[in-house]
Amino acid sequence: MNEAAPAVDSVRAFPDTVLVRAPARIAGDVALPGDKSISHRAVLLGAVARGTTRVRGANPGEDVAATARAVAALGARVTREPGAYVVEGRGGWLEEPADVLDLGNAGTAIRLLTGLLAPQPFVSVLTGDASLRSRPMERVTAPLREMGAVILTRHGGRAPVVVAGSRLRPIAYETPVASAQVKSAILLAALFTQGRTEVREPAPSRDHTERLLRWFGADVDAAPKRASLEGPLILNGAEIDVPGDISAAAFFVTAGLLAQDGEIIVRNAGVNPLRSGFLEVLTRMGASIEVRPLAESGPEPAADIVVRPSALRGTVVEADEVPRLIDEIPILAVAAAQAEGVTEFRGAGELRVKESDRIAAVVTALRALGVEAEERADGIAVQGRAREPFAGGTVDAHGDHRIAMSFIVAGLSAREPVRVRGCRWIATSDPSFFVSMERIAPGAVVRGESA
Ligand code: S3P
Repeated sequence: MNEAAPAVDSVRAFPDTVLVRAPARIAGDVALPGDKSISHRAVLLGAVARGTTRVRGANPGEDVAATARAVAALGARVTREPGAYVVEGRGGWLEEPADVLDLGNAGTAIRLLTGLLAPQPFVSVLTGDASLRSRPMERVTAPLREMGAVILTRHGGRAPVVVAGSRLRPIAYETPVASAQVKSAILLAALFTQGRTEVREPAPSRDHTERLLRWFGADVDAAPKRASLEGPLILNGAEIDVPGDISAAAFFVTAGLLAQDGEIIVRNAGVNPLRSGFLEVLTRMGASIEVRPLAESGPEPAADIVVRPSALRGTVVEADEVPRLIDEIPILAVAAAQAEGVTEFRGAGELRVKESDRIAAVVTALRALGVEAEERADGIAVQGRAREPFAGGTVDAHGDHRIAMSFIVAGLSAREPVRVRGCRWIATSDPSFFVSMERIAPGAVVRGESA
């Protein structure tokens, strides 16, 4: 970052252990961090666009800060205004970075940057923390190599990744799994590639890249399961209002549903239909959720979400729904554990390659709190307790922010205290999480080593 860089060690400074005790009431208003997926993309597109891009309401977490530092190292000028990243774009090619680009914990950052850097006329090296270095990169390097990219990975197709920029050719690519990261990496490479590049996917994944590219003035041909653009394209810098992160909202929505009493209002949540599948699942489980749409002010729809305590029933989440709620499965599993009957998540093998193996992490954590749960190759089955409180216990978040937040929420519905270890990773996506928790459940979540 050129100035006012966010503290690089804030993940380490964040409390690692928290103790949660069930409050009598959970109620109040929650302001969300900006959407992480949209913020990454807005900063990346701003870096190659002509002129100024202002990303208002950007996600304040470590992951997006890593993207901002990376584009600054690639020659874009990045500054901070309250709640915003301001990016002076290069209007085309980026600049060779002086050093390795460290993307920390951010899978979206490393995969999208690999696409953006593949056609640039220089060498770059991308790496990250131990979790990121264990995650598969071949899903993006394979199609990029088909386009002519020269990319080296560590054995087994993992980071560090070396991108030796080269001239690319357009492709028509069918992704084996529905992945917005893969689709986006290809579309970003296509911006610098002569001709029409097309991506098709087996199920619709989130379309933030397509929406933002249009907002930056690009002509993108997009429909569910398909997106294409004709390069090369120079984007125009844009003013972007990032809505609140619906994935962050999921924790507060679930806390409100599982509460004994009270009402939660989550303000200004992004409700892109390709991201908000968990609201549909909870609604069919019997949840009282009211979505109040807000006037559109950007490339994405937003709404206030009002939640009241609800008796839930088990459901089956099928494979075709999974891409629209992939990041919400850990917290949905917590909701399911308080429902009546069994809930099954099917065709969700992608969970094994997230910030942790989320199938294993969720099942282990649920069992630690006395829940009967079954680990399957590509899914989870949860036996609901029909509102019988969880047992107390200790949960390990396995270095995964969403596991940590899910089981802090579970702790709000437990008979005895629940200790969650590994909470510092929450800073990657929602540094305001504890402040919001304190607002809706004062005193319930105690942080720090004394916890
Ligand atoms: C993301 C896409 C999803 C999601 C991740 C963010 C994105 O990953 O799990 O947290 O911003 O494009 P996949 O593309 O691997 O499904």
